Amino acid sequence: MKNIVILISGGGSNMAAIVKAAQNEAWASRYGAQIAAVISNKADAEGLAYARTQGIATAVVDHKQFAQAEDPRAAFDAELAKVIDKFEPHLVVLAGFMRILTEGFVLRYAGRLINIHPSLLPAFAGLRTHQRAIEAGCKVAGATVHRVTPELDHGPILGQVTVPVLPGDTPASLSARVLSQEHLLYPRVVAELLRAGI
Ligand code: GAR
Repeated sequence: MKNIVILISGGGSNMAAIVKAAQNEAWASRYGAQIAAVISNKADAEGLAYARTQGIATAVVDHKQFAQAEDPRAAFDAELAKVIDKFEPHLVVLAGFMRILTEGFVLRYAGRLINIHPSLLPAFAGLRTHQRAIEAGCKVAGATVHRVTPELDHGPILGQVTVPVLPGDTPASLSARVLSQEHLLYPRVVAELLRAGI
């Protein structure tokens, strides 16, 4: 079985969309793939509860516990990798995982680490994407699924979706419009990768 490990930090709605697609599209029999685990850096991430209701293994690696380490980021990433590797991942899917990852972590999962970002990359890498898109006067916004490389939000693009920016949009209204499309885009890209035998 090709194990998919999904990392979240919060609501986990993209994770839930992927889980639902895996069920509805029978990824297990079609691609020999399963969502093996959902892992969060926050114990109170709402998405963990949903994963549990679906019978998916969950784990928490709290980044705050590594604050005193000599290199907190590296220490957290090393522990995270240990937990991920227990599930022998074929694919590691970042779904609202709000951590900047070390180069060592990214290279460990080279070719099998993907992310969704709520902008049309390479525009608006980083945070506050919706506010920055509105301030820039963009007429369209969107989301991007990309391979993760050491440079933040800059890996090769696997898929994108666009939505209009409407007059009077706020970051919240634009975010909601983009997010509803993310839920279609992300499962589609994951399925495409599985279909391609990746
Ligand atoms: C999504 O909009 C995702 O694109 C974004 O966080 C949200 C998570 O929502 N990711 C990033 O900003 C990564 N830099 P979710 O937890 O409901 O899937």
